[in-house]
Amino acid sequence: MHGYDEVRTASRALATEAVHAGRDDLARQGLHAPPIDLSTTYPSYDSRGEAARIDAFATTGAEPDGPPVYGRLGNPTVARFETALARLEGTEAAVAFASGMAALTAVLLVRASMGLRHVVAVRPLYGCSDHLLTAGLLGSEVTWTDPAGIAEALRPDTGLVMVESPANPTLAEVDLRAVAHACGSVPLLADNTFATPVLQRPAEHGARLVLHSATKYLGGHGDVMAGVVACDEEFAGRLRQVRFATGGVLHPLAGYLLLRGLSTLPVRVRAAAETAAELARRLTADPRVARVHYPRIGGAMIAFEVHGDPHEVIAGVRLITPAVSLGSVDTLIQHPASISHRIVDADDRRGAGVSDRLLRMSVGLEDADDLWADLDAALGVRPRPERGAGNCATSHNEPAAAAARP
Ligand SMILES: Cc1ncc(COP(=O)(O)O)c(C=O)c1O
Repeated sequence: MHGYDEVRTASRALATEAVHAGRDDLARQGLHAPPIDLSTTYPSYDSRGEAARIDAFATTGAEPDGPPVYGRLGNPTVARFETALARLEGTEAAVAFASGMAALTAVLLVRASMGLRHVVAVRPLYGCSDHLLTAGLLGSEVTWTDPAGIAEALRPDTGLVMVESPANPTLAEVDLRAVAHACGSVPLLADNTFATPVLQRPAEHGARLVLHSATKYLGGHGDVMAGVVACDEEFAGRLRQVRFATGGVLHPLAGYLLLRGLSTLPVRVRAAAETAAELARRLTADPRVARVHYPRIGGAMIAFEVHGDPHEVIAGVRLITPAVSLGSVDTLIQHPASISHRIVDADDRRGAGVSDRLLRMSVGLEDADDLWADLDAALGVRPRPERGAGNCATSHNEPAAAAARP
């Protein structure tokens, strides 16, 4: 329905890569499940050799050849996940971090260390990404603009352009190819957390950096916190150097869980997206719902604005879990103005289309009718039909103001 069946990496279909990438050596080793290497350090009787390998890492940031050196320099189990994710996103490399925010931090530090502290960004972004940029916590300065204003907002010290598509929480989409074109030589970072490589591969559209909160769909079960940046080998080297110096490494157990999560990613995203599309249809037809946001590319996220009190919906769910985060096997719902985007100034938040009546739902793998029954009860009493009352609109990728119902 959404074309994900046709997605192919250079050599193999995405579904095949999801199961095999990062595991190519296992059968030769007589293994089936990947080993978990928990070592923090690795013995070596050759200090001269170690000195040369550390010098090489300091120059290029390439993974040291041969056996690992120290956990902060790289870990074999985490490397399997990085290899697999790079394959799925169609990039040369990927570098994993302790969280999505640690990954974004490393990208900003790489650019700041080159004297490029200015960032151009399009709202909405995930609330904490917005906060990190707005507060200038890492010494960066941000210019907020819409996609059409990117080229004009660029300065000689612009180190990064950042977008999310579909964006958290409104699911607004940007034309990644057009945005990448507007960036010229400035790297475009596309946060692909919501789409996953199953629905969209931003590097194919010109994004130099593809960021994931791997805590979400890549892990997929709500039990691992992680971030990852897929990119070219040159940028990956700089990211590894920052990771080495600042320490935001991913734990090997998390690397193992993420690799396992990737193997079911296409199946999970496809199944949850089908249910989400059905729930979006039912919400659109419901008089208690003012507006439904569902992206053109599909996916398992829905945002909707209610006529009534959104806090009552959160308080009313029983099967659906009222919790922030997304991308798990179970369905989660949250109120962005209270949680995920609370840290963003209220005017900025509303200006980005995040209304106080907006709810964001991450659809999981439950049965659609069971989910609907829970939502239906949580939405409360249906108003009596009025003559001539129409149903609400589903907005697909339109700017919030344009798609809003009068
Ligand atoms: C789109 C997006 N990017 C980045 C992040 C940050 O990721 P993490 O919570 O893993 O640090 C989140 C978290 O919700 C997110 O939704």
